[in-house]
Amino acid sequence: MTDHNITMSSDNRQKQKEALLNILSSYSKESRFLLPILQDIQRTFRYLPVEAMKEVATYLDVPESRVYSVATFYKAFTLSPRGRKTIRVCGGTACHLRGGAFILNTLQKELSISSGETTPDGQFTLETVNCLGACALAPVVMVNEKVYGQMTPNLIPSMIEEEQNNDV
Ligand code: FES
Repeated sequence: MTDHNITMSSDNRQKQKEALLNILSSYSKESRFLLPILQDIQRTFRYLPVEAMKEVATYLDVPESRVYSVATFYKAFTLSPRGRKTIRVCGGTACHLRGGAFILNTLQKELSISSGETTPDGQFTLETVNCLGACALAPVVMVNEKVYGQMTPNLIPSMIEEEQNNDV
């Protein structure tokens, strides 16, 4: 799936605008607050919407290019919508040797997205990482902070169901 635009109603847009104004109004108009403002926006929206970055540039009276370069420099920021939960599939050596690629393939099929994408309902973002630091449990998947060890493709549907039932 390549289209991962999340449909946003005008009501949601209004709420987003209000949330952004709340964040901006809690800082004075000084460029040194660029980073904390972006961190607040990331925390609130789970990504940095383009319109929000433009508003920040106007509010702080800094070039949009500066806001964009800070937003793309730090890995903590993302420029596309993220899911409420992030599923990380380990592609490190231990997990790879124990079938990590099959786990990733199954997740991609079950969620109908590719690694790096977010489901259209905004529930899950799927990512691959190098090592989750739990090699003894390989192959490993993490959903937010929860570790699922010794995974097999057969266990994926129940893991997804469990996470859907505990949606935040
Ligand atoms: S290689 Fe997968 S947890 Fe370390």
